[in-house]
This record gives sequence, C-alpha cells and structure tokens, in this order.
Amino acid sequence: MDNEKKRSAIFSKGLLQSGELYQYLLETNVYPREPELLKELRDMTATHPRAIMATAPDAGQLIAMLLKLINAKRTIEVGVFTGYSLLRTALTIPEDGKPGNENGFDFAFIDADKINYWKYHERLMKLVKVGGIVVYDNTLWAGSVAMPEECTPEILREGRQRTLEFNKLLAADPRVEISLAPLGDGITICRRMH
Ligand SMILES: C[S@@+](CC[C@H](N)C(=O)[O-])C[C@H]1O[C@@H](n2cnc3c(N)ncnc32)[C@H](O)[C@@H]1O
Repeated sequence: MDNEKKRSAIFSKGLLQSGELYQYLLETNVYPREPELLKELRDMTATHPRAIMATAPDAGQLIAMLLKLINAKRTIEVGVFTGYSLLRTALTIPEDGKPGNENGFDFAFIDADKINYWKYHERLMKLVKVGGIVVYDNTLWAGSVAMPEECTPEILREGRQRTLEFNKLLAADPRVEISLAPLGDGITICRRMH
C-alpha cells in the first residue's frame, strides 16, 4: 500500500469507538444539513488521491456553529487544499465579511504545516482580537497522540511528535482558553483571553 492509501485508511475511521459510529454521526447529523455546494465539493474531493487532507465535515459543521455564535465577520485561514473549510466559512459569515488586521480578526482556522503551528499561534495572538476564536485542525493526529511511540505506524510518527509538542505548549498558554473537541481528526478551539 502506498503512503497516501495508508494515510487514508488510518484517518477515514475518525476518532470514535468505531467507523460505524462515525458514519452514524455523519449520516444523521452532518450530511443532511450540509449545504449543497459543500456536498459537491466533498464529492469531488473524494476522488483526489490526497482526499484525506480535506477538513472533516463534522469539524466543518462545528466551525460554522462557532462562526455564528461569535457573529464572525473578519476571518483568516492558513492551509487550503480543495477549500472545504474555506467554503464552509465563506457560506457562513455575512456578506460584508472580510479579512481584518492586527487585533482585528474574529476567527482563524489553521490547517497547514504542523511544524509551524506554534509560529502561527504566536502571530495569531496579535492578529485575532481579545475574545476571538482560533481553531487548529488535526490536534489528535488520528489518535496517535495517545499511542506509545513504538506502537505508532511509521506514517504517523512525525506528525504525532509535532502534535504532542504543540498541544503541550497550547495547554500551558495563559493567553487562551482551550477545548480540544474529538471531532474529525481533533480540533482545538482557543478563545483569546488577553
Ligand atoms: C490539510 S490541508 C488543508 C485542508 C483544508 N482545510 C481544506 O479543507 O481544504 C493542508 C494544506 O496546507 C498547505 N500548506 C502547507 N504548508 C503551508 C504553508 N507554509 N503555508 C500555507 N499553506 C501551507 C498545503 O499545501 C495543503 O494544501
């Protein structure tokens, strides 16, 4: 099996107790309420050899909820593949939504190179306003963060290490309140406190 297939097999099960439970969640709560354009994009992305890179639809649904709860207008995203999370954001924020500037963003979503997550975090602590939200994707890295290193599939090891380091730094950061939600591949929601 090539690396992309191995990665797909590992990530497609979600983080719940079984793949069936994840399908239940998707089929009862996520897909029926997914906007048609997003469904089309998800279907098109599914045929891409690197389809697994797209943000999971259940994580996208929570992002939309957060955007609405804080009435986000100024948003930023780092890391775009076929744009599932970006389209979800664009379809959710009001028509006068736009990019912001220092201390001006309401919301940020980060799903790019894991090695730089902490650098992005430092920048975002200046760009996102106090009370704003930053969401990081893949913070449970297919569940590997809880596996002993020697039992972790080789394909996950480097990402596991980066994720462990990032999660530790984030958990100790007094600038943010955090909640790590076990949706998709794990998404950490941070609220800037000061
Ligand atoms: C997991 S995918 C993002 C998926 C995205 N949330 C979506 O649903 O389309 C990660 C993306 O980050 C991009 N990326 C990697 N390093 C980056 C960097 N330094 N700056 C910006 N984007 C980067 C990759 O090219 C890839 O498209």
